[in-house]
Amino acid sequence: MVTRIFSWLAGLTLVLVFMVIISPDLFRGYVFSEDRRSSGRRVYETYCIGCHGQTGLGDGEASIFLNPKPRNFVNGQFKFFYFGEAGPLPSDDSLKITIRNGIQGAAMPAFPLLTDQEIRDVTTYLKSLREGGWVEPAPVQAAGVVIEGTTPSEIFANAGCNACHQLDQQGAVGGIGPNLTQVGSRLSVDQIKESIINPTAVTAAECPGGPCPQGVMPQYFKDRLTPEQIDTLANYLAEQK
Ligand code: HEC
Ligand code: HEC
Repeated sequence: MVTRIFSWLAGLTLVLVFMVIISPDLFRGYVFSEDRRSSGRRVYETYCIGCHGQTGLGDGEASIFLNPKPRNFVNGQFKFFYFGEAGPLPSDDSLKITIRNGIQGAAMPAFPLLTDQEIRDVTTYLKSLREGGWVEPAPVQAAGVVIEGTTPSEIFANAGCNACHQLDQQGAVGGIGPNLTQVGSRLSVDQIKESIINPTAVTAAECPGGPCPQGVMPQYFKDRLTPEQIDTLANYLAEQK
C-alpha cells in the first residue's frame, strides 16, 4: 500500500517536472521569479494583442475593422499627453491614464480592473517594443514652462485642459475629469479658481469613468499660468451654465 502511494507520488512529481520543462510559461508565476517585463507581456497578450498585434505594429486581428487604427507601438505617433509633455513620447503617467480610462471616440477600451502594478508592467512591455528604444520625455519643469495665451480659448487649449475635460463651447471632448460644459451652475468663480490652483483641496465627485480619480489633475497650473490668466479662465468658466 505504502509503496503504491510512493510510486504514485513519484509519478505525479515526474509529470509536474515534465510540464514545467515543456511549458514554462504556464508555471512562470508560481515556479520562477519573473521579471516585470514578462508579467507585462502576459497582460499584453491577454488584453492588448487582439488590437495592437503580436509585435506591437497595431495590426491585431480586430484592427481591420477599426478607425482610428490601434496605435503602432513600434514606430507610431502618440497623441495623448495629459501632463503637458513636449512629446513625441508620453510619460508613464500619461500612458497610465490612457490605459486606465481608454480613449473616447476610439475603440481603445478602459481597463478599470487591471491593478496599478499590471498597468506599470504592461507599460514597461509596450515601451520595450519601440524601434530604437524608448526615450523618456523631458520632465515638465513646473515653474520654468510658461503657458501662452490671453483669451479663454487659447489658455484652455494651451494649458491642455481639453485633454481631460469636456467643454462643448470649445469643442473639447476629454473624458478624464468632470464635464465643464455647465460648470458655472455648480461652482462659483472662487471655487473654480481654487480647483485650478489647488486641485487636491476638493475632489469632484463624478467623472465620466466613475468616481473622480484624485491627484490626476496636474498641480502645476499655479506656477505655469499667471494670475491674470487664471482669472480670465475662471471668469469664463463661471459663465458657462
Ligand atoms: C479593441 C481594440 C483595442 C484594445 C483591446 C486595446 N487597444 Fe489600445 N488603442 C486602440 C486604438 C484604436 C487606439 C488608437 C486611438 C486613437 O488613435 O485615437 C489605441 C491606442 C493606444 C495607446 C496610444 C495612446 C496615445 O497616446 O497615442 C496606448 C498606449 C494603448 N492603446 C495601450 C493599450 C493597452 C496597454 C492595451 C491592453 C491593456 C490596449 N491598448 C488594448 C485599440 C485597442
Ligand atoms: C490630466 C487631466 C486633467 C487636466 C489636464 C486638467 N484637469 Fe481639471 N480635473 C481633472 C480631474 C480628474 C478632476 C476631478 C478630480 C478633482 O477634483 O481633483 C478635475 C477637476 C476640475 C475642476 C472641478 C470640477 C468640478 O466639477 O468640481 C475644474 C473646474 C477643473 N478641473 C478645471 C480645469 C482646468 C481649467 C484645466 C486647465 C487649466 C484642467 N482642469 C486641467 C483632470 C484634469
